[in-house]
Amino acid sequence: MASWWQQGSPQSLNPCLPRTLLLLALLGISAESSVSGLKECLIAQSARGSTVSCHGPTEFPRPLPADTVHLSVEFSNLTQLPATALQGCPRLRELHLSSNRLQALPPGLLAPVPGLRVLDLTRNALHGLAPGLFRASGALRTLVLRENQLRAASERWLWGLRALGHLDLAGNRLRSLPARLLAGLHALHTLDLGDNLLETLPAGLLRGPRRLQRLHLEGNRLQRLGDGLLAPQPFLSVLFLNDNQLTTVEAGAFRGLRQLDMLDLSNNSLTSTPPGLWASLGRPARDMQEGFDVSHNPWVCDRVLADLCRWLDANRHKMFSQNDTRCAEPEAMRGRRLLDLAELRSL
Ligand SMILES: *[C@@H]1O[C@H](CO)[C@@H](O)[C@H](O)[C@H]1NC(C)=O
Ligand SMILES: *[C@@H]1O[C@H](CO)[C@@H](O)[C@H](O)[C@H]1NC(C)=O
Ligand SMILES: *[C@@H]1O[C@H](CO)[C@@H](O)[C@H](O)[C@H]1NC(C)=O
Repeated sequence: MASWWQQGSPQSLNPCLPRTLLLLALLGISAESSVSGLKECLIAQSARGSTVSCHGPTEFPRPLPADTVHLSVEFSNLTQLPATALQGCPRLRELHLSSNRLQALPPGLLAPVPGLRVLDLTRNALHGLAPGLFRASGALRTLVLRENQLRAASERWLWGLRALGHLDLAGNRLRSLPARLLAGLHALHTLDLGDNLLETLPAGLLRGPRRLQRLHLEGNRLQRLGDGLLAPQPFLSVLFLNDNQLTTVEAGAFRGLRQLDMLDLSNNSLTSTPPGLWASLGRPARDMQEGFDVSHNPWVCDRVLADLCRWLDANRHKMFSQNDTRCAEPEAMRGRRLLDLAELRSL
């Protein structure tokens, strides 16, 4: 029996079948060896091409329909992919491989699929990425690598991703990053580095992307936010820095930001912020659209904090966790809400 999907384009299918979406379970098709790898897959055909969704195969499914545009093999405990896995489906645009046990990807895996737009590798066991893996991936828009075991990042990991808009590296074991990791990623608008082990970031890290809008750095071990890091990002609108160990935010750290609408600095180790830090962010400069959070920091309520207290007062309509933003020191002030410190605001 010749496999029906090998007989050519969707147009050659029975015209009586609905053109929009034809959903066929391959379960039940005779166990011919050429289809055995697709037994756990559903194939949906449309004018765009085939969508193949597999749950639970122990081996990578093949042969894939030649017009496959969307492939997902998820929750399947795959430990490796054959180097030639994607040969034969040159039109592939989305590849979803989340919740497997992949530890590495073959270096040439993506070479046959230059039109790939989305690659999701959430919840695998990747330790690293082969240099050159994305050499042919100039069309990739979204790359999700969250919840893997990535550690020592190489500056060659992401070479070739010139159209990448969304990069998700959250939930890995990254301790530091090379300054040029993002050098060629001029289209990047969303970067998620949350829940790693980052202690510092190189000052030049964000010089490659030019239009970053969302930056997630929460859940790391950052101690210091320097003047240089955010300077190249005038369009940044959402910034998560909560759940770190920040003791210092330098006076010019937010100076380049023109459109920040959301800032989370909660649950850090800030005792104070330098005068001038806040001037560019909220009122009177502009209105933050979404709001900000500076709660759960051990604020020391003395003269130096007057600048922050005045700014909080002017922006109180956008302030989250007002009840959890309190003085830790000095003793006489402990437990007082920063918003209630009229005596500091008037200093
Ligand atoms: C994957 O492995 C887990 C743990 O061994 C098991 O519980 C689960 O059933 C496996 N899933 C498949 C699809 O084989
Ligand atoms: C504060 O951040 C630490 C990590 O730095 C986290 O473990 C803890 O759960 C956070 N606490 C709250 C109240 O969110
Ligand atoms: C803030 O705390 C006060 C008591 O200190 C309480 O009465 C009030 O309901 C709290 N507000 C919120 C929004 O939790």
